[in-house]
Amino acid sequence: MSEGTISRRALLVGLGVAGGAGAMYAAMGALGLAPDRHTDDYAPPQRSDFALKGRAAAKVVILGAGVAGLATAYELGKAGYDCTVLEARDRVGGRNFTIRGGDRVPELDGETQEARFGDGVYFNAGPGRIAQWMVTLDYCRELGIPVEVFVNDNPNAYLFNRGMTTPVRFRQARADTYGYVSELLAKATNAGALDRTVTRSDREVLLDFLSAFGALGDDDVYRASERRGYQTNPGVDAGTLLGPVPSFSETLRYGLGRTVAFPFGYEQAMPMFQPVGGMDAIVNKLADAVGSDRIQVSTRVTKITNLPDGVEVVHSGGSIKADYCVAALPPHILARIPGNLSPQVVGALQSPKPLSAGKIGLEYRRRWWETDDRIFGGITETNLDITHIWYPSYGFNGTRGLVVGYYNLAAAADSYAAMKHVDRRSRAIEQGVHIHGDKYRTELLNSVSIAWRRQPHIEGAWVEWPSYGAAFKLLQEPAGRVYFAGDWLTHLIAWQAGAFDSARKVVTQLHQRVLKEG
Ligand code: ALA
Repeated sequence: MSEGTISRRALLVGLGVAGGAGAMYAAMGALGLAPDRHTDDYAPPQRSDFALKGRAAAKVVILGAGVAGLATAYELGKAGYDCTVLEARDRVGGRNFTIRGGDRVPELDGETQEARFGDGVYFNAGPGRIAQWMVTLDYCRELGIPVEVFVNDNPNAYLFNRGMTTPVRFRQARADTYGYVSELLAKATNAGALDRTVTRSDREVLLDFLSAFGALGDDDVYRASERRGYQTNPGVDAGTLLGPVPSFSETLRYGLGRTVAFPFGYEQAMPMFQPVGGMDAIVNKLADAVGSDRIQVSTRVTKITNLPDGVEVVHSGGSIKADYCVAALPPHILARIPGNLSPQVVGALQSPKPLSAGKIGLEYRRRWWETDDRIFGGITETNLDITHIWYPSYGFNGTRGLVVGYYNLAAAADSYAAMKHVDRRSRAIEQGVHIHGDKYRTELLNSVSIAWRRQPHIEGAWVEWPSYGAAFKLLQEPAGRVYFAGDWLTHLIAWQAGAFDSARKVVTQLHQRVLKEG
C-alpha cells in the first residue's frame, strides 16, 4: 500500500468522524472515489457538513413538484438549503396522481372531467405499485406512510383473448400450459432425445422437476388436478374438479406466452406494495416536509438562464434568482423552455421520446369481482385494447369499489386518448362485458379516465431513450448551474424509484459542489 493511499484513507476516516457521512462522501467525490450508485449507499446532506468547510447551504430553485423535484427539495432541506419549488400544475405530484371524488381532471385540447367517486374510493391514475426492493418503500418508512400489499398476481384473475367465448382463470391456463410443456419435455427425455445434453443422473432430477412442475401422473401424462381449480369447491364433500382439460393445441391458444413471465420479472414480482389510502400519500408527505411556503403551484417556467454566479428562472408569476437550479420536468417539456442551455443539451433533452399510457377508473356500487368472481385484487390480462383490468387491493369485502377498466400503452392508449370520456367508458365497458357479463355495465356508478399524453405540463406517461448513450450521459452532468433529475435519467423509467434515485444523485452532486465551490 502506498503512502498516498494510506494518507487518503486516513483523511477520509478523519472526515467521517468530524464531519459526518456527508462530508466524507463529499470528500470522496472530490478525490474521485464516490460510487456511481446512489440508492444503496446514499448519505443525505446534513447541516454539519458545512462546519468543516466554512461553506453555507445554497439557494436552489427546483422546477417541477413531481416525485423527483419534491425528493430533491426534501433531501437538500435536510442540510438547510434554501429551496423553492415551481410547479406548473395546480397540485403537487406530477404523474403521482390519485383521483378522488371532487377532483377535476383537465386535458389538453379537451374536456375537464370531474370525479364523483364515493368517500374512501380512490383511483391511482399514475403509479400504482411498488416492488419490495425499491427505494420508494424506504421513503414511505421515513415519511411515516403505512403501506399494504398490492396484489399484482392473482391466479383467480382471468385471461381473456379475442376469439375466446369465456375467460379462463390464470390458475387453469398456467396448470394446462405447464402441464403439457412438462409432459412433452418428459417424453422427449424418456425417449432419449436429450441424451446428448442431459446426463443420466441429471435426467432423474429433470424428470422429478417436470413431474412436480406440470403435476404429471406416474406415467408422465398431464391430466386434470386440483391445480386447475374446481367447478364446485371442496368442503364437506370433495368438490368437483374443473374439466375437461383442453387439448394441447387449444391450450396453446390461451396465448399465455404473452403474460406468463410477467410475475417473474424483477420489477413486477410479488409481493408488491401500495401506500394505504392512495399513492399520493408519498408526494403529500414530501410536500409537507418541504413546506408549502417553499412550493409555488400554478407557476409555469418560461425562461431558464445560466448566469456566471447563479441561475435566473422567469415564470408566470415573476422571476427568481438562485445559486443553482434542478430541472425535474419531463425532458420534452424542458426542451421547449427558452433560455441559454446549449444546443447540445437541448438536443439531448429532445432525444427521449414520450410514450402514451391511459387508464380508466370504474367505480361500482358493489364488489361483484369479489362476491361473484372470487377475485380479491390482481389483474386480468387480455389482448383486447383495454389490455388489463386491475381489481382493487384495498377495501376488500366492503361495499363500493373501483376497478381499473383499462391500463393500456402505445397505439391502444392513443386510440382512447383521441375519444371523449363517455366514449372511452363505453368502449372499456363493452370489452369488460365479454369477460364479466352485464354487471360490468349495470353496476357502474362513476368513472374517470386519464390519457397521459393529454395531461397539461406532462404530455406523456414516461419516455423511451433511443439508447442509453451520449445524450443520456450528458444530462447526468449539470449544464452550468442547471442540474437535471427525473425517472427519465435512470434505468428505472416509469417507476417512482427512478425519480428518487435520480434526485439522490443530483443532491449528492450538487452538495459536493457547494462544499467545494460554495
Ligand atoms: N411502472 C409501470 C407499471 O408498473 C410501468 O405499470
